[in-house]
Amino acid sequence: PTVLVLNGPNLGRLGSREPDVYGSADLDALRESLAADLPDGWALDLRQTDDEGTLISWLHEAVDTGSPVILNPAAFTHYSYGLRDAAALVTKPGGTLIEVHISNPHARETFRHTSVISGVASGVIAGFGFDSYRLALLHIVSGS
Ligand code: DQA
Repeated sequence: PTVLVLNGPNLGRLGSREPDVYGSADLDALRESLAADLPDGWALDLRQTDDEGTLISWLHEAVDTGSPVILNPAAFTHYSYGLRDAAALVTKPGGTLIEVHISNPHARETFRHTSVISGVASGVIAGFGFDSYRLALLHIVSGS
């Protein structure tokens, strides 16, 4: 099976974007770190887009393929009902979608305290840097 690791707006700038909040490693480093944790028989497809429609179409793709999803919705977390409805399509029939965040949004500005995604996610992991993704991947490949 293939795990989709989907990243929303501005996460393509990881490495140089607010390193005090997000660290100094970029998405290629994240891909390498996750690949190192992949058991035999699993594949990883890590993508990033700044475009809401593209992210929604990737969730539709996950519905069609049945792939588990690790999603960092970035700023869309806080207001995109379109993304929420697409995430609900992934999780409704027993699919898996784990919402992840590098930072802990609850310890930041008030507008980040709301997630419109969490209510339809299988679970949420936030505040552990790239380990948020690694913990989500561990859950998925452990099959629990
Ligand atoms: C983020 C947190 C969001 O509030 C922010 O808009 C991001 C990144 C995180 O990974 O910590 O872009 O999702």
